[in-house]
Amino acid sequence: MTQPSSPATSVVRFSVNGEARTFEGDAQTPLLWVLRDTLKLTGTKYSCGIGLCGACTVHMDGQPVRACATPVSSVAGKKIVTIEGLAPADDEHPLQTAWKKHQVPQCGYCQSGQIMQAAALLATRPNATEAQIETYMEPILCRCGTYQRIRAAIKDAQAAGRQG
Ligand code: FES
Ligand code: FES
Repeated sequence: MTQPSSPATSVVRFSVNGEARTFEGDAQTPLLWVLRDTLKLTGTKYSCGIGLCGACTVHMDGQPVRACATPVSSVAGKKIVTIEGLAPADDEHPLQTAWKKHQVPQCGYCQSGQIMQAAALLATRPNATEAQIETYMEPILCRCGTYQRIRAAIKDAQAAGRQG
């Protein structure tokens, strides 16, 4: 009888929040498990697990990606940033300041994904129009319906960026 073959062990080197990291194991392991279970960076959330909701959004070389649907093999040599590394230590990102001002979260579950998506938008399109913000943020779902406060906070952070 043929035994099921066990996954080959791979070594993947990448950086997370500016620190060099090495993963050894099944190359198909989702990045989300590596972040949460191995590195204990639990700010990135697991929700749908199939790339649909955006709760697990992190940055890979500045682009938002869904960590639950990203095999660790595909992050080799890349720079990953999670919500824990979005702002320099002891500081906060303008989005985090605006999030607090507008008291955006309800249950909070989707919120680090929302902020990471918004941060990628502001980094690449700081003058995005309201319609562009709407379109860019649309894929990140919030079952509590905090969308209006999310948009208000993003516009505040945009304005802060223009003054800064
Ligand atoms: S948990 Fe990754 S997209 Fe929903
Ligand atoms: S705040 Fe609850 S899912 Fe968005």
